[in-house]
Amino acid sequence: MNIGIDAISFYTPEIAINLRDLAKKRGVDPDKYTIGIGQDIQAVIPISQDAVSMAANAAELILVKKDKEYVDSIDAIYFASESGVDDSKSGAVIIQKLLNLPGNIRTIEMKQACYSGTFGLMSAFNYVATNPEKRVLVIASDIARYGLNSAGEVTQGAGAIAMIVSANPQIAKYNFDSVYMSEDLNDFWRPLYSDTAFVDGKYSQEVYKEFFLKLWNRFDRKLDSFENFAFHLPFSKMGNKALEQILNDENKTSWNEKLEIAKKYSRLVGNLYTGSLYLAFLSILENDDLNSGDEIAMFSYGSGAEAELYSFTLEVEYKKGILGDTQSLLNDRKIISVETYEEIFSSQNLDGHNQNMENEFDKATFQLREIKDNLRIYR
Ligand code: CAA
Repeated sequence: MNIGIDAISFYTPEIAINLRDLAKKRGVDPDKYTIGIGQDIQAVIPISQDAVSMAANAAELILVKKDKEYVDSIDAIYFASESGVDDSKSGAVIIQKLLNLPGNIRTIEMKQACYSGTFGLMSAFNYVATNPEKRVLVIASDIARYGLNSAGEVTQGAGAIAMIVSANPQIAKYNFDSVYMSEDLNDFWRPLYSDTAFVDGKYSQEVYKEFFLKLWNRFDRKLDSFENFAFHLPFSKMGNKALEQILNDENKTSWNEKLEIAKKYSRLVGNLYTGSLYLAFLSILENDDLNSGDEIAMFSYGSGAEAELYSFTLEVEYKKGILGDTQSLLNDRKIISVETYEEIFSSQNLDGHNQNMENEFDKATFQLREIKDNLRIYR
């Protein structure tokens, strides 16, 4: 029995900044951002979006296209996030209500920096292996927030990827070939009292590269047996930095071309933390010239640190499992000025004071409408 990803969809907010504008405002050569870091456009988060509402917006794109029998077979929601909205209650139960899913399902939130989306998927693959008639909704949703004028600012971003895991999947089967590792390291973390991440930027890149190399050496495969390689992309150049460790003079040019395809959407959105690897996967699915039976390698990395390397094999007509229109979503966004971005960034309600969140920048189906008496009220 094949088990894998049956459907995928993506949501990111409707406003963004051009990083060349940000570079000018910060007195930096724009080439540093667009070439050195490899980012062009960055999502900006209106005050009415958070990790929960973004997750519901991504999942809705799948659910509206599916019939009742399909939706009724969803037996669990695995919500992966490192920017969740409550330290106790799982965002998955709020998502369940927003999506109008039945009560007789399991709901859980998972955290291990940018890795937990992968853990959610792996758990779902195992779940479906013992419950082949069931489906699991896995959603990776995050806001990457480092702070105005910080070194990490150029690597911010936001969005959510929703995926349905099932038997006989439409998009790709998991090859049950994972190698993984974890180790207690301090490259990136965010204490409960802080709304921005702490990061040792150079060290985090070294750990990422080291984990990739260690796992690659344990992964018993030849690079050129894969059609493309999806990396967790905190910024798009990170994928190149990891992969170049195993390239040679013969395959360097062709692999750098493949990575351009994998990086296309990330360059236009920024870091989604848990969802970044799966945005790279979506970018490959939508933009690469692939056939059924082609294999895609996947490298998941979460600071702190944990990593996993595995692969998918594409199914026939895999494009039919992509729901939503990524290109329009990205093209239709409004590019706002750096000044407006700074105002929005500084006005995020991080202390939970009573506030109506209505604003001109958000037309999404699901929004955080209000914070009242320490409760978040969504519509
Ligand atoms: N033209 C072209 N390139 C230029 C340039 C110019 N004018 N000026 C500088 N560059 C290049 C530099 O040479 C450098 O390239 P290399 O890394 O290939 O040497 C690149 O631009 C970046 O320059 P700096 O290293 O000087 O940049 P910085 O110190 O200001 O910050 C950063 C970069 C460390 C990535 C910082 O943005 C950061 O801390 N980001 C957050 C942490 C992060 O994303 N870490 C990644 C691994 S951890 C992870 O993956 C988990 C996660 O999601 C957070």
